[in-house]
Amino acid sequence: MKPIQVGLLGLGTVGSGTIEVLRRNREEISRRAGRDIVIKAASARDLTKERKVSLEGIEIVPTAGHIVARPDIDIVVELIGGDTAARELVLRAIDNGKHVVTANKALLALHGTEIFAHAHAKGVMVAFEAAVAGGIPIIKAIREGLTANRIEWIAGIINGTCNYILSEMRDKGLPFDMVLAEAQRLGYAEADPATDIEGVDTAHKLTILAAIAFGIPMQFDKVYVEGITKLTAIDLKYAEGLGYRIKLIGLTRRTGKGIELRVHPTLVPARRLIANVEGVMNAVLVNGDAVGPTLFYGRGAGAEATASAVVADLVDVTRMATSDPEHRVPHLAFQPDRLSDAPILAMEDIETAYYLRLRALDRPGVLADVTRICADLSISIDAIFQKEAGEGEDQVDVVILTHRTVERNINAAIRRIEGLSTIPAPVVRVRLEELL
Ligand code: NAP
Ligand code: HSE
Repeated sequence: MKPIQVGLLGLGTVGSGTIEVLRRNREEISRRAGRDIVIKAASARDLTKERKVSLEGIEIVPTAGHIVARPDIDIVVELIGGDTAARELVLRAIDNGKHVVTANKALLALHGTEIFAHAHAKGVMVAFEAAVAGGIPIIKAIREGLTANRIEWIAGIINGTCNYILSEMRDKGLPFDMVLAEAQRLGYAEADPATDIEGVDTAHKLTILAAIAFGIPMQFDKVYVEGITKLTAIDLKYAEGLGYRIKLIGLTRRTGKGIELRVHPTLVPARRLIANVEGVMNAVLVNGDAVGPTLFYGRGAGAEATASAVVADLVDVTRMATSDPEHRVPHLAFQPDRLSDAPILAMEDIETAYYLRLRALDRPGVLADVTRICADLSISIDAIFQKEAGEGEDQVDVVILTHRTVERNINAAIRRIEGLSTIPAPVVRVRLEELL
C-alpha cells in the first residue's frame, strides 16, 4: 500500500521527538498501521536554526501554509502551539480535506467547537491524544475504554512543569525560579511558562477532559483557575506535617447542581497514589460509575513522551483514513448532536474542604474569635493547630483544616477573619480533596 504522507508544522521539542520516534520505530509502526507513515515535508519559523534531529529525507518548505495546501499531504501534524497561526492553519488543512493531528490543547480548549464542526462537515479526523497528559493515552481511555460508564469525576495532575516545580521545591528545597528554569531547559514548559505556572495549561487540558467525559462543549472561559505562584515552602511543609501533599489538580465533577470545573493547588492525603506522583510525571484519576476509580500514570511532557501520543494518533488516523466518517469514534466521545447543556457551577457554589493558615497575634481569645466566625457560617473544623511563637515573636501561625463546606461560606469567613485586629496578614487558603 502507498505510504501515508505527513506534513509536519513545527520542528521544536515535540516536532523533533516525533521525527525521532517515527524514524526509530518505523518498521514496527508500519506493521501496526498497515502501511508506512512518512514525513514528507516540514516547516518551522526560522529555517536556519539548527535542529535536534536530522531532517534527512524531509523536504523543508518555506512556510507552514505550503504544507496545508499540498495535494500530496494526507495528514497535517500541528506542533506549532498558540491559537492564532495554528487555528488558521488547522482550519485550512481541514478545508483542504486533510486529517489533522495536534498536541495543541490551547487551540482545542479555545477553538475546539469550531474546529470539530469543520472537521465533521468535511469528513476528516482531528486527533489530539498528545494534548492532554503528554504520553498517557487518556483521551483514548476515556473516549473508548470507559465508554460504558457514566463518568462521575476526574482529577488530574496534568501539568508536568508545575508538578516538577512542586516536587523539587518539596524534596530538595530548591527555589521556584531555579526549578522553573530547569523545566524550560528540559523542554517541559510552554513557550510562555506563565501559562504553566498560572494554571492556564492545566485549565486547557481540563476543558478537553470535561468535554469528552460529560459530553459538554468546550468551555474554557468557565474554568476557575489558580496556579502555583503564590504557594510558599511553609505551606508545603505544614501540609506534609498534617499528612498531605500539595499538588496542582485539575478537577471536574458532575453534581446535582451542575459541573465543577476547577484548577487550583490542592492538599491530597499523602497515602493516595496520586499524591506520590512526582517530577514531570502526570496522573489522571477517572471515576466511572461501573468501573470505580481508575488511575492513569506516565510522563506528562517532553519530546519523546509527547511524540509517543502524536505517533499513536498518526497510526489511528492511518488505520481509519479509508473508513466511513459516520463510523468513526466521535471527536468528543459523544455524537455532536447529542451534547449536554449541563451548567458549569460558579466557584462560590462548589463544595470542598479547606486548609487555612492565619498569622495571628499571640493573645488570649484570638482562636475563640476565629472558631466563632467559622461556627456562625456553619463551617465545621476538622483539625486546628498553632505553632509556638519563635523567640521574641508575638505572632504565630495557626492552621485550620475544615470539613467540606460551600466555597461561598469560606470566602465570607476569610473576609471576617481578615477583619479581626488580631490577624495582621491575609489568610492563606488551599483547597483539600480526599479523592476517594
Ligand atoms: P516549541 O519547542 O516551541 O516548538 C514550536 C515549533 O513551532 C518551533 O519549531 C517553531 O519554529 C515552530 N513555529 C512557530 N510558529 C510557527 C509558524 N507560524 N509557522 C511554522 N512553524 C512555526 O514547542 P513544543 O514544546 O514542541 O510544543 C508544540 C505544541 O505541543 C504546543 O501546542 C504545546 O503546547 C504542545 N505540547 C508540548 C509538550 C512538551 O512537552 N513540550 C507536551 C504536550 C503538548 P522555530 O523552531 O523556527 O522557532
Ligand atoms: N507545558 C506542558 C506541561 C507540556 O508542563 O505539562 C505538556 O502538555
